Amino acid sequence: MDSSSSEMEHGNLPQPISGLDHRLHVAIIMDGNGRWAKKRGLPRIAGHRAGAHAVRRVTDAARELGIGTLTVFAFSSDNWQRPVTEVSALMRLFHRYLRWEMGRCLKDGVRLSVIGRRDRLPQWLVKEIEHSEEVTRHEKRLHLRVALDYSSRDSIVAAARQAQHMKDEGFDIDRDSFQSLLSALNRDQVKDVDLLIRTSGELRLSDFMLWECAYAELYFTSVLWPDFKKEHLSEALDEYSRRDRRYGAVKETALAAAAETQAETAEVLGD
Ligand code: IPE
Ligand code: IPE
Ligand code: MG
Repeated sequence: MDSSSSEMEHGNLPQPISGLDHRLHVAIIMDGNGRWAKKRGLPRIAGHRAGAHAVRRVTDAARELGIGTLTVFAFSSDNWQRPVTEVSALMRLFHRYLRWEMGRCLKDGVRLSVIGRRDRLPQWLVKEIEHSEEVTRHEKRLHLRVALDYSSRDSIVAAARQAQHMKDEGFDIDRDSFQSLLSALNRDQVKDVDLLIRTSGELRLSDFMLWECAYAELYFTSVLWPDFKKEHLSEALDEYSRRDRRYGAVKETALAAAAETQAETAEVLGD
């Protein structure tokens, strides 16, 4: 999140979010590549390579299942702490993935974009990212967003800094305007996450889309990312369809029940 990026020039107030794709936004924390490789006696990078194949498979599945936006966590800002050999192999893998996938994306109507910081990525990777985004920018069937060098807390801090600068120019900070700023820093305006999936059995968010997941349904599975297939995504969507999203409100049926119990409540509270 380079705060000097063109979208965020001073005076260039973010536009209100309009014309959003209202189909489902699914986000995935693709975890377990290392354990997948270890189980097979392979180096960790073999797990990452298998993980890249899983991204391709799951992108196809998401498109077939009618998902509008798929955001996948590929490299967190905290992942720089990993051994330099693993990090550099990952960077080469991302580059190769973008090269391979561009043709397929175009054929399948997939718009590809990358969120996260770019100033610490190698230049040859940034070039490939910009090229993939440019070439696929008009595709509408599925929006695939890959989070690279991404930290949700860093994004929020960057947006807050920006808001502070823009206050003098009449920028009024509220939920919507702040959200627009945050999205603009990620060069995108997309709806909040509806369903967040994490593979490999870990039950945490690891600094992924904390704001955007405020009301996301969470789905955890012990399947390791390289083993994740269409059937697993379908299972997660089935589970999602059984969830009751209330956003803090009360459903109509619940309202009726509440009316019936008003008398009981008064009694309990001693009114
Ligand atoms: C996720 O798999 C991919 C990245 C974080 C780059 P891991 O590499 O975290 O796999 P585990 O958690 O060690 O199994
Ligand atoms: C989160 O996984 C980041 C990605 C999947 C890219 P990690 O493996 O880095 O997360 P922790 O360290 O287990 O929380
Ligand atoms: Mg992990």
